[in-house]
Amino acid sequence: MAQPLFALDGQSLITPQSVSNNFPSPHQNNEPDLLRTAEAEFAVVINIAMQRLAAGRNLPDAVRWLIGQLHEVRHKFGAAVWQRLIPIIQAHPSAEILQQCPFTRWSFEKPRGYSGDASLIDFIYGHPAVAEEVARSTPLGLNIFEYTINAPGPVAVRERRDILTRFVDETAARTGPDTEVLAVAAGHLREAEASKALAEGRLKRWVALDQDPESIGTISSQFHGTAVEPVNGSVRGLLARKHQIGTFDLIYAAGLYDYLADKVAIRLTQICMDMLKPGGVFLFANFSDEMADDGYMESYMNWELLQRSEADMWRIVNSSAPEDTDEKTVWFGANRNIIYATIRKKS
Ligand SMILES: C[S@@+](CC[C@H](N)C(=O)[O-])C[C@H]1O[C@@H](n2cnc3c(N)ncnc32)[C@H](O)[C@@H]1O
Repeated sequence: MAQPLFALDGQSLITPQSVSNNFPSPHQNNEPDLLRTAEAEFAVVINIAMQRLAAGRNLPDAVRWLIGQLHEVRHKFGAAVWQRLIPIIQAHPSAEILQQCPFTRWSFEKPRGYSGDASLIDFIYGHPAVAEEVARSTPLGLNIFEYTINAPGPVAVRERRDILTRFVDETAARTGPDTEVLAVAAGHLREAEASKALAEGRLKRWVALDQDPESIGTISSQFHGTAVEPVNGSVRGLLARKHQIGTFDLIYAAGLYDYLADKVAIRLTQICMDMLKPGGVFLFANFSDEMADDGYMESYMNWELLQRSEADMWRIVNSSAPEDTDEKTVWFGANRNIIYATIRKKS
């Protein structure tokens, strides 16, 4: 994994710029030449893509092709050249066209001031909360959207939400009415909408911690009167043990580790393990280094993520799991775009 030199400050000012320019370059000497070649390849790709979009036939397929080509270019030229190509792509007239897609536009404009906010993920979930924003799009924007939210990354994110619901429901079935769950970086806690355990009142509490007060407000109104307890808190607060929130049968973090350098990820995992009851489970998810949409996300969406391999996940698990650990696993979701680690504390 390419490790950026910054560490998230724990209050989430996640910006692509905090990652950019920090990648070591394997091609320092011939970088200008490589950049020129990469620019030329991009020019060929985008000309074909724009012709296909202008022709107006099978637009989602044209977007699928473009996303695949950007992944190839990113991979072929390496991180340092790619970082310098990003602003060139963003300044290209194609950006205005692709940003007619409401999902792409929201990510690029960052209305909440940081990357990967919970409303952005609502586009992926097809949630009614963003229906108005979607409805404001041009017909071309909607055609692009039809593919962008069905690309492998978003498919994996929807599966991730369902996996979280299943983990919560299975924990409730195993531990009974005293079940306590903690979601770190909960966003809008959409996984709770399908939870049978929550709907049937079989949870003692489901603490939803997030740094964004707007997301915490959304959770408070939607889940008022249930076992859900919203907490406006941050990774930094957890690391400083500032939040006195007790212990849990299940703790999970989805859509968070993708922004955390190893050092912070390891420390956070240790803290979460400390907050588990005996027999409790900690799960964290990360976009994998096999993800297919990275080139499009980092350029047109201005959304950078730290992708992790199986070995990267194991390094975090093995550096943070204490001796009282029963079971450690690292596994992929169905299309391998997201990778998961689960650690069970000894009973
Ligand atoms: C990509 S969203 C994921 C939301 C949700 N977990 C999901 O899977 O749909 C990332 C969330 O992480 C939160 N976040 C980012 N950095 C954080 C930090 N340092 N402390 C707490 N929350 C953070 C953001 O506010 C945002 O709601």
